[in-house]
Amino acid sequence: MDILRVDLGSRSYPILIGQGLLSDQEIFRRHVGASDVLIISNTTVAPLYLRTLEESLQPRRIVATLLPDGEPHKTLDVIQRVLDVLVANRFGRDCAVVALGGGVVGDMAGFAAAIYQRGVAFVQVPTTLLAQVDSAVGGKTGVNHPGGKNLIGAFHQPAAVITDTRTLATLPPRELRAGLAEVIKYGLICDSAFFAWLEAHADDLLAGEPSALARVIRRSCEIKAAIVGRDEQEHGDRALLNLGHTFGHAIESATGYTRWLHGEAVGAGLVMAARMSRESGLLSAQDLARITTLVGRMGLPVRVSGIAPETILANMRIDKKVQGGRIRLVLLRGVGASFVTADYDEDCLRRTLESQLQ
Ligand code: NAD
Ligand code: GLY
Repeated sequence: MDILRVDLGSRSYPILIGQGLLSDQEIFRRHVGASDVLIISNTTVAPLYLRTLEESLQPRRIVATLLPDGEPHKTLDVIQRVLDVLVANRFGRDCAVVALGGGVVGDMAGFAAAIYQRGVAFVQVPTTLLAQVDSAVGGKTGVNHPGGKNLIGAFHQPAAVITDTRTLATLPPRELRAGLAEVIKYGLICDSAFFAWLEAHADDLLAGEPSALARVIRRSCEIKAAIVGRDEQEHGDRALLNLGHTFGHAIESATGYTRWLHGEAVGAGLVMAARMSRESGLLSAQDLARITTLVGRMGLPVRVSGIAPETILANMRIDKKVQGGRIRLVLLRGVGASFVTADYDEDCLRRTLESQLQ
């Protein structure tokens, strides 16, 4: 088992990564202190893993609630139903919420935990690659609003992240590929050697080879933990983790969260960010080609069709990263060299959207 740590003073917490952790009672005894536990999962993940988790949490009082599956259900209405379950079962401030599922379950369970009785303990048990490399770590929780992606939310750090890499065995290949988009992101923002390793091991990753997956989970979590440790609430460096996301969120929102998975939209967004960097004279043609090739090789879209540039621009303008009316973008000076800027040429942005949205 690998144990990493997110250093946030008194709210520091471990990320445990290993095979078979879901059935390890000792781990859950140590990291879930509460005697009343609400497990939040969904209708797809629960039939696979809920019973094992319930057994590992014995002898606590355990209530499980299952959310409908999918990004369109990441709404305040569904959060209200979760809160109703907590109240109906008279859970107090000393309870814990355990999220069993992908990023949608994790973001929603975390948000319910953040607002119930002004905040209760929360443990992440991520079961998708995307959640294991990204969303379970760092304490961003929330839901979508009809006006935009993740517009409602709170920072609420988990008490622990318990990652059983064996759960990836049941993950559909399309979902595995979606997770690889966030993995590529880490290489691009700050680790060119990791990016090169991904280029060399793309086939192993696509085949779901356990040791290759374990390596990318560990390295991704190391990078994310370090960034969150120095900028928990995104006043600085943490914004780098949004590389490709301002574009990606706008794509998701423009297509009603149904056409592209989050990770797929991020994949297309990474290429847009790279293209924008190239249009701005920052990135070499060779690096743009490397990035486009790796995203495509991971089975992710490198461009999307059927959305007007104006629609994407309008959606980008309600992104959380807008400051003073100006969209802030994460751009690249090279593979592994990213920065945040609001100082870019609008014509470059328009040309980027026109070329990537055909
Ligand atoms: P998801 O939660 O929708 O899961 C993808 C699909 O896989 C779902 O159908 C789910 O039921 C299924 N599934 C989950 N685990 C499975 C397993 N082991 N076997 C079989 N099926 C399984 O999607 P996701 O890609 O995990 O997460 C995307 C969400 O994460 C988005 O809402 C995004 O905004 C959010 N996100 C949050 C952060 C953050 O920092 N909080 C970061 C990145 C993404
Ligand atoms: N996924 C972006 C962040 O956690 O900040």
